[in-house]
Amino acid sequence: MVKILIADKLAQEGIDLLESIDGIKPVVKTGMSEDELCECISEYDGIIVRSATKVTARVLECADKLRGVARAGVGVDNIDIPAATNNGVLVMNTPGGNTIAAAEQTMTLMLALSRNTVPACNSLKAGAWDRKKYMGNQLYQKTLGVIGLGRIGMAVVKMSTGFDMKVLGYDPIAVPNEAKELGVQVVDDLDNIFKEADYISVHVPRNEHTTDMIAKDQFEMMKPTARVVNCARGGIINENDLYDALEAGKIAGAALDVFEQEPPENKRFQDIDNCLVTPHLGASAAEAQVQVAVEAAQILADALTGGEIKNA
Ligand code: NAD
Ligand code: MLT
Repeated sequence: MVKILIADKLAQEGIDLLESIDGIKPVVKTGMSEDELCECISEYDGIIVRSATKVTARVLECADKLRGVARAGVGVDNIDIPAATNNGVLVMNTPGGNTIAAAEQTMTLMLALSRNTVPACNSLKAGAWDRKKYMGNQLYQKTLGVIGLGRIGMAVVKMSTGFDMKVLGYDPIAVPNEAKELGVQVVDDLDNIFKEADYISVHVPRNEHTTDMIAKDQFEMMKPTARVVNCARGGIINENDLYDALEAGKIAGAALDVFEQEPPENKRFQDIDNCLVTPHLGASAAEAQVQVAVEAAQILADALTGGEIKNA
């Protein structure tokens, strides 16, 4: 019997799929600490995680039978890939399953930031009727800078064409042909985006090149009307420098779906009206969760039962 541990909350459709396969036994045990995971992981051939469970080198050392880790989502930054490789454990993800959800969350945040939706709602609920204070801006014909022209970045580009935005794009690794077809002005120098854009959205993985990609120097270059959005990974926008830029009124606003530490210990952004914060909800659309769950279950089942080895 191939035993698969489902260590984070997974849509039922993924669990049902595993249960329907002869010879596979899924076991759901979520919210475990590293110690608890180390205690039980040796029983399992495979594990499915989202972002909460950290598959650390220590967990992998305890995982005598483990042959595969499937991430129901994109980022594999919660999995120690070098340690997995050393232990002969395959790491897979479901890169396309939550693309639209994350892009829609990005557009939601850009729109809500521009129209002061959250502070206006809070104010009305608190008994006020203040139409003047919450005057906003249109996205129409504004300049959007998209950093990272991969799946989510390109989905944001497509959605922004509906608002007739001018798009500047930056991706030093791969620019899809579609970017130019959609009218994206691809820039070689990232500073052009910081200097010209009204909205800046990051869609890159977090690594040594992208950590603090937007920090004090970049905020200095921005227009006072600029709004920045991070629906990718905490730390790509430096949180201390963002706080300072917002406090000093250097930029018009920011929206963070992701944080350097999750949940964030420091609650300072909650007190700034023109900073929207959401608890890592980019992929939290029901349709996306079903898709990543089913894809993760399928690729892991295939890999562990001698089928094809692939990402979704
Ligand atoms: P992707 O791999 O399709 O795209 C990433 C793009 O970034 C690639 O085109 C790559 O060439 C580019 N890139 C890499 N380094 C770069 C750099 N230094 N400068 C500019 N571009 C660079 O990934 P994706 O599916 O579009 O996901 C993007 C990010 O969003 C990831 O960090 C992912 O983990 C995150 N994400 C967050 C949520 C959420 O819930 N908030 C949901 C899904 C994905
Ligand atoms: C991802 O990388 O897929 C996202 O952060 C979403 C998630 O963690 O579910």
